Amino acid sequence: MAGIQLIRGFKDILPGETELWKYIEKIAVDVFESFGFKEIRLPVLEHSELFARSIGADTDIVEKEMYTFPDRKGDLITMRPEATASVVRAYIQHKLYAKDPVQKFYTIGPMFRRERPQKGRYRQFYQINAEVFGIASPLIDAQLIFMLTTIFSRLKVADIATHINSLGCPVCRPEFKKALSTLLSSVSGKLCSDCIRRHKKNPLRVLDCKVPACRDAMSDAPAILDFLCPECKEHFNTVKATLENLEIPYHVDKNLVRGLDYYTRTTFEIQTGSLGAQSAVAGGGRYDGLVKSLGGPDHPATGFAIGLDRLAEIISAKSDDLLQNPEIFIAAIGSQSRTAALEWACRLGIEGIKTEINLTDRSLKSQMKRADRLGAAHVIIVGENELKQGSVVMRNMLTKDQISIPVQGLVANIKQTLKGIIH
Ligand code: HAM
Repeated sequence: MAGIQLIRGFKDILPGETELWKYIEKIAVDVFESFGFKEIRLPVLEHSELFARSIGADTDIVEKEMYTFPDRKGDLITMRPEATASVVRAYIQHKLYAKDPVQKFYTIGPMFRRERPQKGRYRQFYQINAEVFGIASPLIDAQLIFMLTTIFSRLKVADIATHINSLGCPVCRPEFKKALSTLLSSVSGKLCSDCIRRHKKNPLRVLDCKVPACRDAMSDAPAILDFLCPECKEHFNTVKATLENLEIPYHVDKNLVRGLDYYTRTTFEIQTGSLGAQSAVAGGGRYDGLVKSLGGPDHPATGFAIGLDRLAEIISAKSDDLLQNPEIFIAAIGSQSRTAALEWACRLGIEGIKTEINLTDRSLKSQMKRADRLGAAHVIIVGENELKQGSVVMRNMLTKDQISIPVQGLVANIKQTLKGIIH
């Protein structure tokens, strides 16, 4: 019988890949912490209602993609398809605004959407989220985009573009929806079946349908930017001016409507040409009405999420370059030497010196081969003779220089020697 395989659309992140993932997370966390963001960790399961009320009952995510099931008592629960709703829930539930009206959080973890799997699209994927509460100013939207582009440039990601748009607010968006609906009625014969359904329930989503016939039919669609009320217009102009000031190139993309209903005003995405159909590596925007609509105070909010899987796929750095090779490999011949080697490896390990040892009865040649394969910087060779003489040989694998190190106080001696090499 074939072994049990993982579930379709799910994937294992294996050693060889995790180094890059951790590197990306570290760069993101460094940026978050230097901008005053604090980490928040949230559950993967939430009441289903949270997502229907935040992302929107008529969105693709809530209608078709959520992993929702009754728990043993019959309560409907959902594996989170995104983190923003949970961050807002926690913000309200714990009154996180009580101490300081401005709160900035980041969170990293798995999300679940039952989409059709393809390159860059998985059913369990990971996001790096940043969310800011309590700031209505457009300056923070621009700062978030600045942080995003800083993360991408520190990771040396090429072939990306920043797309921005404004989705207006409850004052001006209804006017736009009306104009859009009028156009949709006149072209409905040309739309795909999804867009015919969207026309009734979620007309904005027709704007980012990828089906060529829908794109053709929508080529004369009105632009939401022409419908913005004076406040929304000013907000968007300030975002653009601030990005220019910060020297961040951007494209205004009037069809950037995003797939979640909670957005108001600024929306943005970082898009890449290297991932085929899945062009968005990060997305976000302002969601000023969400805290209130979920039962909290009337606090503005804005944020973004980076798709970690997608980012890892387009990064040029290879995990191999990020692997931390052992500083020391102990090649031990004979059982007595292996016992000594294990003790030294433990003591070197707790000193933070990355050490590998050989615990099987292999020839010195095969052990040296393994040390080479692991990219060890130094090899210590120890056999019965070395133990008797009270000193071991340490070989620098790059220069091939060999020095003798006394066994007495070996760990301190090695530390001293490595210090000398580094400085
Ligand atoms: P989103 O655009 O749905 O936004 O997702 C953000 C990013 O997650 C996407 O740009 C993409 O890189 C990644 N992503 C989404 N679905 C998948 C998938 N099936 N497989 C792999 N990667 C995927 C949100 O989730 C919002 N909560 C972002 C936000 C935060 N807005 C305000 N604050």
